[in-house]
Amino acid sequence: MKRFLFSFSLLVMLSLVWAACADSSDRSFDDGASPADRADGLSQSEIEKGIGPIEKVELSAVIDTALVSQGEAIFAVKCAACHKLTERYVGPPLGQVLDIRTPEFIMNMMLNPDEMARQHPEVQALLGQYFVPMPNQNLTEADARAVLEFLRDAYMGTSEVTP
Ligand code: HEC
Repeated sequence: MKRFLFSFSLLVMLSLVWAACADSSDRSFDDGASPADRADGLSQSEIEKGIGPIEKVELSAVIDTALVSQGEAIFAVKCAACHKLTERYVGPPLGQVLDIRTPEFIMNMMLNPDEMARQHPEVQALLGQYFVPMPNQNLTEADARAVLEFLRDAYMGTSEVTP
């Protein structure tokens, strides 16, 4: 009898362990970002960071003023025809775009606007307001990083934006 009780309780313990394992593997299966659940099929990271070559941007706490001047020059040639900092133009104002977009999103928009417009719901919503698709300006990643620094600097100096 003792022996039977022992093996019985062993069996109970084993089945508890098995149930716990089965349960936790179920949970880890459910956990993921479940991109398939989104109608647009994008992952949470793509929603936040946009679609394109930039996955992570390291920003220094202090603005790099040399980079800002480079970015300002590129902005004047390649962006100012459509963007102002404080008001709507052909495209949206960019003076405070860092309030609503991550640095990665902003760089991916500069480097990969076509795919962003095709796939990203936020850019599709903008297209609905601005009608013109933003063209690819053939920036290098270094150019885009410089323009981002210019926008960071502008952000600090911009107080009012008319959407
Ligand atoms: C020919 C006009 C045009 C040019 C040139 C242009 N853009 Fe745009 N941009 C737009 C439009 C229009 C939108 C709104 C989205 C759309 O309609 O595709 C936009 C959207 C954006 C956005 C997203 C704004 C938001 O609120 O999320 C960013 C960032 C941006 N542009 C940055 C730039 C930068 C930086 C440059 C220069 C390298 C540039 N754009 C050049 C027209 C332009």
